[in-house]
Amino acid sequence: MDLGLRGKKAIVTGATRGIGRAIVEQLAAEGADIGFCARNEDEITATTATLKARGVNVIGASVNVRDGDAYKAWLEKTATDLGGCDVFVANVSAGGGMDSEKNWWKNFEIDVLHTVRGCETLMAHLKKSGQGSVVIISSTNAIETFAAPMAYNAMKAALITYSKQLSQFVGKDNVRVNSLCPGPIYFEGGAWEMIKGTNQKFYDSTVRQIPCGRMGTPDEVARVVTFLASPASSLMTGANVVADNGYTKGVRY
Ligand SMILES: NC(=O)c1ccc[n+]([C@@H]2O[C@H](COP(=O)([O-])OP(=O)(O)OC[C@H]3O[C@@H](n4cnc5c(N)ncnc54)[C@H](OP(=O)(O)O)[C@@H]3O)[C@@H](O)[C@H]2O)c1
Repeated sequence: MDLGLRGKKAIVTGATRGIGRAIVEQLAAEGADIGFCARNEDEITATTATLKARGVNVIGASVNVRDGDAYKAWLEKTATDLGGCDVFVANVSAGGGMDSEKNWWKNFEIDVLHTVRGCETLMAHLKKSGQGSVVIISSTNAIETFAAPMAYNAMKAALITYSKQLSQFVGKDNVRVNSLCPGPIYFEGGAWEMIKGTNQKFYDSTVRQIPCGRMGTPDEVARVVTFLASPASSLMTGANVVADNGYTKGVRY
């Protein structure tokens, strides 16, 4: 199947590791030009070199998405330098934690506001595309009880509602908006590797809840994102896609 991504311009936040890195690698493999950010300069340089080897245009920059002004300026400049924006993937998260009110502000500013600012700043470009596609990375923690009442879980739920309602609002402009809930995803340097090292019991009990007994990989999530980002998923907007290897148990009609 031709996904129709060749020559498209994709902007992805948080793309030097894990799921974001797998997303930009697959989008580049499909021939899309890439704009991405993260904070660590060395990892940005290494990611840029790997992506450029695919023969696509790549613009990587060090930006903290929590700094609203710097982040919006980067989005605008990247879309201009790429020659437009057809795809926006909001991937950065502040992650979990429930030690204090600080987590609520962090998850609001990073998970929610960086997504909203990204959509608002890039919307004119996405409309101009004629095949604009936004993919918002949520989590299965938003749709089923997980561990503890964390800001992360609640803010990821907010993203699903925002995604659905934005899709209704911009559908007339041929911009599609979908959210994606990955289940637990394991990779070196990721949160689950850390949890395995610090709380083996919790890690093991999580794996036991997955019918085929393994967590997902960043590549498996990225394949779903790449499809949602592409014109090949033209019938899909306002969907919340769950890619969790059977981890969640709820029946959603
Ligand atoms: N891993 C899982 O099991 C899982 C499950 C469900 C959903 N998700 C969701 O999937 C997404 C990706 O998760 P992941 O586990 O791959 O993430 P990760 O390991 O935390 O990687 C995050 C990426 O974002 C960058 N980043 C982090 N904070 C940033 C900031 N403030 N500004 C700019 N860049 C920033 C990181 O680079 P720097 O550190 O250099 O900035 C890195 O490239 C998140 O939305 C997460 O909630 C993950």
